Amino acid sequence: MAAALEVRALTVGYGPVRALRDVCVDVPDGAIVAVLGSNGAGKSTLLRAISRTLAFQRGHATAGSIRFEGRPLDGMSPSRVVAEGIVQIPEGRQVFARMTVADNLRAGTLGVRGGRRETVAALRRVHELFPVLADRAGQKAGLLSGGEQQMLAMGRALMARPRLLLLDEPSLGLAPLMAARIAETVQEINAAGTSVLLVEQNAAIALRLASTAYVLDVGEVALEGPADELAASDEVRRRYLGVVDETAAQDAVRAEAAAPVLRRWSA
Ligand SMILES: Nc1ncnc2c1ncn2[C@@H]1O[C@H](COP(=O)(O)OP(=O)(O)OP(=O)(O)O)[C@@H](O)[C@H]1O
Ligand SMILES: [Mg+2]
Repeated sequence: MAAALEVRALTVGYGPVRALRDVCVDVPDGAIVAVLGSNGAGKSTLLRAISRTLAFQRGHATAGSIRFEGRPLDGMSPSRVVAEGIVQIPEGRQVFARMTVADNLRAGTLGVRGGRRETVAALRRVHELFPVLADRAGQKAGLLSGGEQQMLAMGRALMARPRLLLLDEPSLGLAPLMAARIAETVQEINAAGTSVLLVEQNAAIALRLASTAYVLDVGEVALEGPADELAASDEVRRRYLGVVDETAAQDAVRAEAAAPVLRRWSA
């Protein structure tokens, strides 16, 4: 499949802090690709580099290139990137708290090409995916629950009719049932033709949704491959899926039990 998004040898710093080094990531057209990694690994930095919003955080790319559908994004403004079809949903579900739900959704269409007909169709689609956003249209966004705010953040992004969605930890802080609903919606959005680059700390969810995954470790790609293979790999299971290697634990306990009692007490 042709790569919609190609990140090549990307290096990013915040002043003297190097956040990404030599990172290559592909998002094939129509795919869901996951990026895993612990806190500070550089996941959000990668998304900011793609959406060209690094400068807001005083960050800058010092090397590498990013192309979308064959066109380089270098030098584009963030709003131009949106017009190209790439929309980011930043971490922390940032909605406009004092604005109504309806106005938040309207804000998603700012600077996006297309007429009234496209906007009405996009709104209908968002309301189909998230009926609660229709029910609460007149309510201030700040009064929504965390899960509803995540839905609104996603709904607002969809109003721009993206071809590539950049999603930063959509399930963070949500109850399992709500996280599962959000995951289901990501799948529906993808099935309707939008490619997705998904950053998740919930590796179990991410690896279930994605076809390919990358693991970032202190700013570098440590592992990459088909999501099902990564989900089965010991390192990913131990570090990101919280699966304890039972055989190794058993061996350690047996070895300890076999050691002289005195050494155990003095250790
Ligand atoms: N605005 C900033 N100024 C300076 N350093 C930053 C800034 N933003 C991030 N960093 C640093 O860059 C590195 C990568 O951060 P980033 O936020 O991309 O990680 P992350 O993988 O998204 O982490 P988390 O899971 O906690 O969201 C970290 O070392 C972080 O401290
Ligand atoms: Mg982050």
